[in-house]
Amino acid sequence: MELKKGFILCVDRDQSDLKKLSEELHKFVDEFEEIHEAVSSEQALDLIYRMSQKGQDLSMVISAQDLPGIPGVRFLEMVHQKFPKSVKILLSGNGQLEDAVYAFNNADLDRYLKKPWVPEELEFAVSSLLRQHRMERINETLFNDVQVKNTELQATLKQLKTAKHQVETSYMQTIQSLAIALEAKDTYTAGHSQRVAKFSVAIARAVGMNAQDVEAIQKIALLHDIGKIGMIDRILNKPGSLTEEEMVLVRTHPAVGGQILSPVRHTLKFVDAVQCHHENFDGSGYPGGLTWDQVSDGTRIVRLADAFDAMTSNRPYRIAQPLSYALSEMKTYSGSQFDPEVVKAFIMTLEK
Ligand SMILES: [Fe+2]
Repeated sequence: MELKKGFILCVDRDQSDLKKLSEELHKFVDEFEEIHEAVSSEQALDLIYRMSQKGQDLSMVISAQDLPGIPGVRFLEMVHQKFPKSVKILLSGNGQLEDAVYAFNNADLDRYLKKPWVPEELEFAVSSLLRQHRMERINETLFNDVQVKNTELQATLKQLKTAKHQVETSYMQTIQSLAIALEAKDTYTAGHSQRVAKFSVAIARAVGMNAQDVEAIQKIALLHDIGKIGMIDRILNKPGSLTEEEMVLVRTHPAVGGQILSPVRHTLKFVDAVQCHHENFDGSGYPGGLTWDQVSDGTRIVRLADAFDAMTSNRPYRIAQPLSYALSEMKTYSGSQFDPEVVKAFIMTLEK
């Protein structure tokens, strides 16, 4: 924070009073304020203009009422219009109280001192008013600094948000590419994620989800098996049944998927469907053995869509089952593996 230098302007037609005033001010005013003199309002206004051009702040005007040309109160009124924050002191002779009243009302006069002034009174008035003026200027400068910093902070925050969004978008694009790569390497389940997404969308619509949620569920269903990306092809494409060890490995894919998506999990609705799509309605699934109230609607839907596609498409260990089989299985396991409401909605859709 840097305060601009200030100046005090003394105005009086009486040169000896002017000199005396200036000398007294020099005794107690610090170097931060320059002290200038003028013998008329016109000269004072010209000086104020030149000093302002140099970037100096008019801290205070001490003006006599008796000036050639424009009188003191009118001059102070003009100063007030241009520099409302400057301190204004009127020096006036006896019997000119009405001038002071005029200046209090029209020029926001701060102090009225009778000529000849008492040096202690002058010092007290000038020092206290100057201190107050400087505090106001410091506050104003601080406030402006805070405003500038705040604006800079807002701009930085915006840039950070944009950068974060770009990072998240590019992360999502990478994951989506991985999902496509997964489909390509897992020959038997090629198209599985797309079909699960398609069935999930159909179920989501059947249960009355809004368009935004339907879109979210489509996105997450496409990624539900992303955790299989690190699994060796030998296991993914094994024609026979898996050994216990291999089974343990395969069962890690929901948790691995959850980890892969964790950096962007706040951007994806129903993201738990990746980690929980092998959880069951009655809590008998894996990896968490979660009950149905612990998972999202998205998970309930992807769970059924995934199982349905597993039954009705060719797998390394068996050929595709007919639709009637899948319908019967879904009914059998409704309420144990699957959410009964989701099953009901899906069967109605399939039978249409
Ligand atoms: Fe899976």
